[in-house]
Amino acid sequence: MKNKQERPFGGRDVHVEDNFSTYNHNMSNLDNRPGTAASADEKPYIEFRNITKLFGATTALDEVSFTIGKGQICGLVGENGSGKSTLSLILAGILPRTAGQIILDGEDWDPQNILAAQKNGVAMIVQETGTLSNITVAENLFLGQEMLFRKGLFIRRNGIFTEAQKILDKYGITDFRAETSTAHLDAQQRKLLEIAKGMYWKPRVFIVDETTTALSHSGRELLYRVMNNLKAEGSTVIFISHDLDEMMQHCDALNVLRDGHFIGSLQKEDFEEGVIKQMMVGRTLTGHFYRSDYDGYSDEVVLKADCITTLQDLLCFDLELHKGEILGIGGLSNCGMHTIGRALFGIDKVLDGEVRTADSKIIKNSKTAIASGIGYLSKDRDTESLGLLGTIRENIQSTGYIANRAFGPFISSRKERAYVKQQVDGLSIKIASQNHLVATLSGGNKQKVVFGKWIAADSQILIMDCPTRGVDVGVKAAMYQLMYDMKKAGKSILLISEELPELIGMSDRILIMKDGKVVSEVFRNENPNEQKLIEAMI
Ligand SMILES: Nc1ncnc2c1ncn2[C@@H]1O[C@H](COP(=O)(O)OP(=O)(O)OP(=O)(O)O)[C@@H](O)[C@H]1O
Ligand SMILES: [Mg+2]
Repeated sequence: MKNKQERPFGGRDVHVEDNFSTYNHNMSNLDNRPGTAASADEKPYIEFRNITKLFGATTALDEVSFTIGKGQICGLVGENGSGKSTLSLILAGILPRTAGQIILDGEDWDPQNILAAQKNGVAMIVQETGTLSNITVAENLFLGQEMLFRKGLFIRRNGIFTEAQKILDKYGITDFRAETSTAHLDAQQRKLLEIAKGMYWKPRVFIVDETTTALSHSGRELLYRVMNNLKAEGSTVIFISHDLDEMMQHCDALNVLRDGHFIGSLQKEDFEEGVIKQMMVGRTLTGHFYRSDYDGYSDEVVLKADCITTLQDLLCFDLELHKGEILGIGGLSNCGMHTIGRALFGIDKVLDGEVRTADSKIIKNSKTAIASGIGYLSKDRDTESLGLLGTIRENIQSTGYIANRAFGPFISSRKERAYVKQQVDGLSIKIASQNHLVATLSGGNKQKVVFGKWIAADSQILIMDCPTRGVDVGVKAAMYQLMYDMKKAGKSILLISEELPELIGMSDRILIMKDGKVVSEVFRNENPNEQKLIEAMI
């Protein structure tokens, strides 16, 4: 063991103290049903009146009523599955409502589809991927609008590219060009493209759903600038994120949803983290998120990258992950940290050098990685970690073919059901049935499914790239506890993260990367702070 033992999870104490009724009683400074984010003398700009949305037996929204003022950045917060995206998608003309009315600027608002909404000034950056892969950036920008570039019988393709490039230039997006194929863009670049696409419509209402988690620092700054410019021009921004610091910093008002119900609104002067969390979860959350121990880890190396070179980012890169270690990796977006996870799990080809396990098995591809007890949570969840066309059960049990075998090639469906149920219960995955498509889950619940499938597989090594992306506060705490439990059980975790508090809070050791190289190594017992890590990154 490398360092001394102290209190495991000493300060982490999440307890239930309240329910909805007592919470209302306690919070006399809140506006409650129907809420208003517009101040009393201001005319509301958007009014949701008893909006209900049913998906089969699931009530995603239950008579939600509240208002939003003009020229505001208005936050929508709530736990995973509380209905934030559903409400936004209805406003943006992407989903039909089951019942209720929306008034926008004094008029009834019921767009028939996304294009109708966009043309009338309501644009949205959706939580999941909002671009098509097999066409260019310019074609994505003007999808459905090609007629704007018609000349006689033909579409002026050059015109599309020129206009698209102008838009990218206007917003300072220099990472890619209008003629680039979208298939070559990473998650962050796709989000930047979606921001530009939304802005093309000069929206009077711009909805930004869980976008910042896909963005690096500079991408976030670009988005905040765009949002503030819109606000200055009198447009309204609806902003969704699980990062409460970010919400409190950028929003003028917050509206809270819980389980499809509207809970209340807070004006900026009343923002207080504890109050917001209590409104979101209906109970008081106290204590720390992160581990507070200084437990060490073994000297035994369980995974080793030996001078590996990849097509992108890494040139003769070395890394050692130890048994019982949580090894954090941080850096700016293009530092190569995401490539490490992909190379160690065998997704990105290792051109030179080797990735080896403790028993000297060489990881050549994902199949050998999985066979060696390695699991991987990709940053790009929908395309790399989930089978969106499969059910929740199929996704979780995909790692359990051996564990759930009855005899010979036959699988025990009883074992499989239990295998899946254990994860659904343990991670509180909000589902109506194991047999529903994973695509019907909210973003955070999808992330839990990915986490669950590797926990179920009893992975000895878990490579996690931005694991708590889009995950609410309660689930984050549960995930951190699970990571700690894995460590205590002698398993090893590679935690690649853009969130410095998470890296500092959970890692035994942190490697900071720049230009594909490790530029700094800090140990938990040195008590690193954010400033020190940032200095190493830039
Ligand atoms: N297409 C669908 N079919 C069935 N159920 C759905 C569908 N879309 C959403 N739901 C359900 O509606 C509820 C609300 O989901 P929604 O995506 O609005 O939550 P959210 O607040 O955006 O959560 P997150 O923070 O995880 O993104 C969830 O229970 C979800 O499973
Ligand atoms: Mg959502």
